[in-house]
Amino acid sequence: MKKVTVSSLLKKKQAGEKITSLTAYDASFAKMFDEQGIDAMLIGDSLGMVLQGQDDTLPVTVDDVAYHTRSVRRGTSRAFVLADMPFMSYATPEQTYANAATLMAAGASMVKLEGGSWLGDTISGLNQRGVPVCGHLGLTPQSVHVFGGFKVQGREASQAEHLLAEAQALEKAGIQLLVLECVPSSLGKTISEALTIPVIGIGAGKDTDGQILVMHDMFGISANYMPKFSKNYLKETGDMREAVSKYISEVQDGTFPSAEHSFE
Ligand code: KIV
Repeated sequence: MKKVTVSSLLKKKQAGEKITSLTAYDASFAKMFDEQGIDAMLIGDSLGMVLQGQDDTLPVTVDDVAYHTRSVRRGTSRAFVLADMPFMSYATPEQTYANAATLMAAGASMVKLEGGSWLGDTISGLNQRGVPVCGHLGLTPQSVHVFGGFKVQGREASQAEHLLAEAQALEKAGIQLLVLECVPSSLGKTISEALTIPVIGIGAGKDTDGQILVMHDMFGISANYMPKFSKNYLKETGDMREAVSKYISEVQDGTFPSAEHSFE
């Protein structure tokens, strides 16, 4: 069993093979996802919403993410593990390096930051200190109050051009993966084709290099709300392992996401 690395994820993109990914927060689910063959697991700050019942991700702390990262790492043998840097945990270089060190020591192999070109120095500083970085553009939930809600981004031509330029700036700064959230499918395709690094979509259409879903959404157990871009695989299969396996195969063969789970 070969461990998934940032290089093998890049090779998948180069070979035109889709990357499969889910969020994970504990050892039991991590082990199950790993055994089903998921490529990557993200300890997302979505844990604030799906585990803690918060309205958004802003109250999540570095200690929260580190706790769940240690749990996921213990359950993982093969998949690539990355962890979110929570809201305001990368506001200054000192905070950034100390907090990234905490998450890497907890078992992450990469950290994810939300934002565009303003993160350039942060990304290169982390890379120089041995920390690989994943970017996150589009609907970046830590900026929900700037957006005025959880809204699709990049629908206007000028916004789409701006997001493409931001994605290219992040790649130039040194990110090795990009999460692209809630953008029209056409923009998901444009950005994925424009970048050398893999682009993992969530609500970004079928043409990104891979897909990620919040595990609670994929099982259809998120309280109160099911995003349009997600699909309830547990309802379809009636079994958690089969749900994960079906999600993986539908991402791999391009069946998921269909137009029903994408934005125009
Ligand atoms: O926090 C999270 O789970 C995420 C995913 C939505 C990509 O950032």
